Amino acid sequence: MLFFWVLFLFSMRSAVADSDDDLMSFVTLPELRALKFDVAYYDREAVDDGYWFVAPYGVIEPETPTKQWKPCQVGPYIYDADGGLVWAGSCMFDNRNIFDFKAVNNIDDQPHLSFILQHAYHDDGKDKGIGYILDQHYEPDNAVAVTNDLGAFNMHEFNVLDGGKTALACAYRSAYVDLGDLGRPDEHGWLTAGGFVELDTATGEVLFEWSTRGDIPIHESVKVHPDSPPSGEPGWDYVHVNSVDKNAAGDYLLSARFTNTLYLVSGEDGHIIWRLGGKFSDFVQDFTFSKQHHARFVESNATHTTVSFLNNASDELEQGEDTSAALYVQVDTSVSPMTARLLNRYNRPDGGLTRLRGSVQTLPNGNVFVGWSERGFQSEHSPDGKVLMQASFASTRFSTYRSYKFPFIGRPTTPPDVVASVYGTEEADLTTIFHVSWNGATDIATWKFYARVAADGLPVLIGNTTKFEFETLYIADGYLDWVSVEAVDKDGNVLGTSEVHRTRAPDNWLFAGFQGDIKPTPDDPSILFGKTTQAVEDVEDPVDEYSQAKEAAKAVYKAYEVIRGVGGLLIFISIICSVGGLLAGAYWYVRRRRMQAYLEVPSDEGHSMVQRS
Ligand SMILES: *[C@@H]1O[C@H](CO)[C@@H](O)[C@H](O)[C@H]1NC(C)=O
Ligand SMILES: *[C@@H]1O[C@H](CO)[C@@H](O)[C@H](O)[C@H]1NC(C)=O
Ligand SMILES: *[C@@H]1O[C@H](CO)[C@@H](O)[C@H](O)[C@H]1NC(C)=O
Repeated sequence: MLFFWVLFLFSMRSAVADSDDDLMSFVTLPELRALKFDVAYYDREAVDDGYWFVAPYGVIEPETPTKQWKPCQVGPYIYDADGGLVWAGSCMFDNRNIFDFKAVNNIDDQPHLSFILQHAYHDDGKDKGIGYILDQHYEPDNAVAVTNDLGAFNMHEFNVLDGGKTALACAYRSAYVDLGDLGRPDEHGWLTAGGFVELDTATGEVLFEWSTRGDIPIHESVKVHPDSPPSGEPGWDYVHVNSVDKNAAGDYLLSARFTNTLYLVSGEDGHIIWRLGGKFSDFVQDFTFSKQHHARFVESNATHTTVSFLNNASDELEQGEDTSAALYVQVDTSVSPMTARLLNRYNRPDGGLTRLRGSVQTLPNGNVFVGWSERGFQSEHSPDGKVLMQASFASTRFSTYRSYKFPFIGRPTTPPDVVASVYGTEEADLTTIFHVSWNGATDIATWKFYARVAADGLPVLIGNTTKFEFETLYIADGYLDWVSVEAVDKDGNVLGTSEVHRTRAPDNWLFAGFQGDIKPTPDDPSILFGKTTQAVEDVEDPVDEYSQAKEAAKAVYKAYEVIRGVGGLLIFISIICSVGGLLAGAYWYVRRRRMQAYLEVPSDEGHSMVQRS
């Protein structure tokens, strides 16, 4: 009998959610589908503390206004180290592409977040995109707009510098130039120069701008050839700048993917101090690299500079080597010729190639956290190269430009979300099921559940439970109509309180399996729970009026703590069914849990398969 119900319920579930198993769904946030992570740890003890920061996107160019995806999916997300959701920002930013999403802990003593909201589809060119800095309440501190003549906030970089007054971004500019660099002085064509800007985060004003045009000749590019035919607008993307960083001396480290070169640019007069890699490297080096990403200063003094970057190396057209890797490289400018040597190399754990995007982050304990981009593949390595963890999206449909790991404290201004539903076959076995979540809140240890007899009644504590996952389930005896919850941290501090919600009841109690003659009336929680503030699962009173089914529900609730997850929930419902003969109730319940599939609102436009980044 039980086996039958389990089969029945699973078949019902696959009928509604077959193609969406890679996505999470929540009773409390039905407008959201979040990506699941597949996670493997090889040495859990050795990983650094922190949350994961990713921004999954499906198609890298902004989509036409006629093309919309629902429910919310694409955008900034924070996950815990088990791949459990902490914050979904996709609804906040209308499912638009977000890049370079990370925590910023160098502004003041409060944690912040930063990212780029990609420009909108260019039908009017007005929405050029924004560099955002949010506070820990997920409210914008700064919205750094494009204030100069450039058409868009470049998607590659939003690097908020210490103190938060300024930030770096890449900048692409088109120009009509002669092709003298290629030995064709009489020919002209369009060129997209790369470069970077240092922006005032309060005003968006450009404080410093540097362009490759003039300093990096066209023939330095590995993408433009001496006989390439001249290009129309926007022109040859000949350098493809993709990251910029600044050191304490005020100089800039620029990565250009299409010259295979890292450049140190003087913050004083803009001259190129050195080139590492590419056709005109200034160094004698004991390693090779190409098509690199996310170059960062790790350490520097007057003579030595250590940089990290993602490399080794390929793109959509070329493959320099077989395996991508995070590289740590030290250059010595005090010797002649200058030298560059490989300090450390962290190979991509699957031995594959990261073609278009990625990131390398040095964690506070010295570990290295690498984002390999496609499918959100990411790994954490010990300094000596051991792979400690690897994870990727369960979905094949999404990637993230970069992946980061940071400590973070999230304190949303919105209250926790609660959905409560009642079901039962008779007055004596009515049960209230709570689902509770709080998008963006970190440090919740326990949920406390309250009910009251009326909207203005006194709250009665009806129970508590450990927070399991993003959304926690709790089952209480009785028909509790006016309910609320409290989020409590491990020290017992209340982090937040929900609004008071009414419990959802079936429209038709008979169809939901209720066998009483008249529809049930809500219980008075002070009568049910007033005598004790003990947790519901601790109440043991086999001779009271509670039915056998109710006792079974409690037992199964305990089992649920072990099983967890939707699969476990369905097994739980099946057991309830077998105990109480409650098929209709279960059917009603599962129907309510039907989630919205992630669907494209149809349009005439085809998919853009071209991913340039
Ligand atoms: C890049 O990968 C190739 C092939 O795996 C290897 O021979 C080379 O040493 C690597 N370069 C670096 C800098 O790690
Ligand atoms: C600069 O850094 C290098 C490498 O860490 C070190 O060997 C050197 O002594 C440092 N120089 C100074 C002046 O501190
Ligand atoms: C729930 O409350 C009881 C009684 O106050 C307490 O002993 C128990 O530790 C609490 N459980 C959780 C998970 O906080």
